[in-house]
Amino acid sequence: MSAPERIPPRSVTADPHAAELLARGELSVRGRIREASNAALLCTVALDGREASCVYKPVAGERPLWDFPDGTLAAREVAAYEVSEATGWGLVPPTVLRDGPYGEGMCQLWIDVGGESELLALLDAEEAGPGWKAIGLAEVDEDRTALLVHADDERLRRLAVLDAVVNNADRKGGHLLPTADGRLYGIDHGVTFNAENKLRTLLWGWAGEPLTEEALAVLKTLRDALADGAPLAVRLAGLITPAEVDATRARVDALLASGTHPEPDGEWPAIPWPPV
Ligand SMILES: Nc1ncnc2c1ncn2[C@@H]1O[C@H](COP(=O)(O)OP(=O)(O)O)[C@@H](O)[C@H]1O
Ligand SMILES: [Mg+2]
Repeated sequence: MSAPERIPPRSVTADPHAAELLARGELSVRGRIREASNAALLCTVALDGREASCVYKPVAGERPLWDFPDGTLAAREVAAYEVSEATGWGLVPPTVLRDGPYGEGMCQLWIDVGGESELLALLDAEEAGPGWKAIGLAEVDEDRTALLVHADDERLRRLAVLDAVVNNADRKGGHLLPTADGRLYGIDHGVTFNAENKLRTLLWGWAGEPLTEEALAVLKTLRDALADGAPLAVRLAGLITPAEVDATRARVDALLASGTHPEPDGEWPAIPWPPV
């Protein structure tokens, strides 16, 4: 038997077979991911001589949260992937809902992190020149305060727009996966699509700044795709509540109306803790 063909990381979101492999492939658990706050398992998924590594998060392993209904995180991760696909930016690795050894859950293609991307840093104020966007001051230790910054990077800027649309309540540094071929993926989208504003992210560097022409065009595409009966609206309807689909539409409309990146509204802690 020849060695299974691996899915090349370069084209993970463009690979038309990836979602099918994830949805229909045979899932074998290799181990538990230790740092995960929910049960997250590293698996191999195999189908018709192709195989890939993936993350499987069974619904049964979801830790209850006060502000999200129980048993809904896996579907929210898939919904975030669906919106990412509709943007054409390919920011979320292919993600599906499926059955597995511990019951229904989400399966997401594994991304090998690589490359040199410096996305976050703690700098002294005078070091924070062009190339960095300020997030806020952080106490490093008792007598040193540093500026927490993220890179002024087009990939992060797209992700900031996606996060605003999906209302991501937890965009921390460890959820940014740069690859050796220069792509960037965002992961861990279980706490998204709440009907109330919960945007909590490190990517505040563009807050209040005009959206790029590209982002405005993408948001118009999303608005059409979210119209009643349109493809994205139909897909989301199977994953989140009607009120949450309406709220998503409203966030897209608000972004288009303001033409700017959102600013923290002050009611919700704007930065995830810990930030990485
Ligand atoms: N698709 C993926 N590709 C590569 N690494 C991943 C992927 N999904 C999760 N991980 C790794 O597993 C860790 C735990 O996953 P995460 O999605 O943060 O789980 P939790 O829902 O428990 O917070 C991440 O911090 C990351 O290191
Ligand atoms: Mg996590």
